[in-house]
Amino acid sequence: MEKLLSTKTDLKFVPESYILPPDTRPGNTEVPFFETIPVIDLKGESAQLIPQITDASKEYGFFQLINHGVEEKLLQDVLDVTKEFFELPAEDKATIFSDDPKQSCRLYTSIDYMNEQVHYWRDALKHPCHPLEEHSQFWPQKPAQYREMVGRYSVEVWKLSLCLMDLISEGLGLEPGYLTEMIEVQLMSANHYPACPDPSLTLGLPKHGDVDFITILLQEMDGLQVLKDGHWLAIKPLPNAFVVNIGHTLQIISNGKLKSVEHRVVTNQKLARTTVSSFIYPSYNRQIEPAQVLIKDNSLPLYRAFIFKDFLDTYITDTYQRKPPLERYKLQV
Ligand code: OGA
Ligand code: NI
Repeated sequence: MEKLLSTKTDLKFVPESYILPPDTRPGNTEVPFFETIPVIDLKGESAQLIPQITDASKEYGFFQLINHGVEEKLLQDVLDVTKEFFELPAEDKATIFSDDPKQSCRLYTSIDYMNEQVHYWRDALKHPCHPLEEHSQFWPQKPAQYREMVGRYSVEVWKLSLCLMDLISEGLGLEPGYLTEMIEVQLMSANHYPACPDPSLTLGLPKHGDVDFITILLQEMDGLQVLKDGHWLAIKPLPNAFVVNIGHTLQIISNGKLKSVEHRVVTNQKLARTTVSSFIYPSYNRQIEPAQVLIKDNSLPLYRAFIFKDFLDTYITDTYQRKPPLERYKLQV
């Protein structure tokens, strides 16, 4: 519990255990803002919508989504209530703090504090969301508005995910319902990145790709950087927009057509940053493999079939050994 960054006050120096080795440190180099990340208007011309989403997912693996239908007030309420959560007194946070990754709703810090070599400058509150009635009773009781706001928000994010899955299915030429039928799990992580005395030495999150189908990120401040052609580019938040990115599992199902792109989070010397990530997963027992229709005409499957929960395990072990998590699933073509 005392490991949480949000309970430490007055941090004047970066503690030794948070200082990254020189090769993974962000350093002082200026990272340009990513002007070209596609901005997609969900209420825009529908004939263009599908190619826009498909192209962005092939080329960048990332896009920002505007006019997505989730009320602005609700977005602000969710950001406010998660910020309030991290500001709660230590004794309130202690009730849900846990070092055990198997705990379904938990507050923790960094990624795997007990086992990792260097810590990351982040506290996180993580829990499943869908279906709401199975999960919300395990969510934090404080702040008093948390369950209501996050409950309403996660229902909206689930609806949006179904909509995006349908558009992506169509863009890939899959039959209607192919992807929506596979998704079953929605996990939410509220991330709190406190101000850091020296952002050149630390990261909020290391370079990683997400394991899921898609991630829908709510944010209001910069800090997220995306790897494009070997260079880091900063994403400029647009008001009330979501940042959507393709995860490893959808890259595999699309047989490599859509890209799961690596990203990282840098810290800020003056301001704390709070973000809300929603991860969309298949059921844990689901078999995952490239869609048959995408390997019909003289192309070969790039990945072998596996059970999703086994992938979650190998993702963690591979990450520890700094191995690319998709490598062991690749087929020789
Ligand atoms: C994540 C992630 C980005 C952010 O949670 O996987 O990449 O800006 N978050 O918080
Ligand atoms: Ni991520």
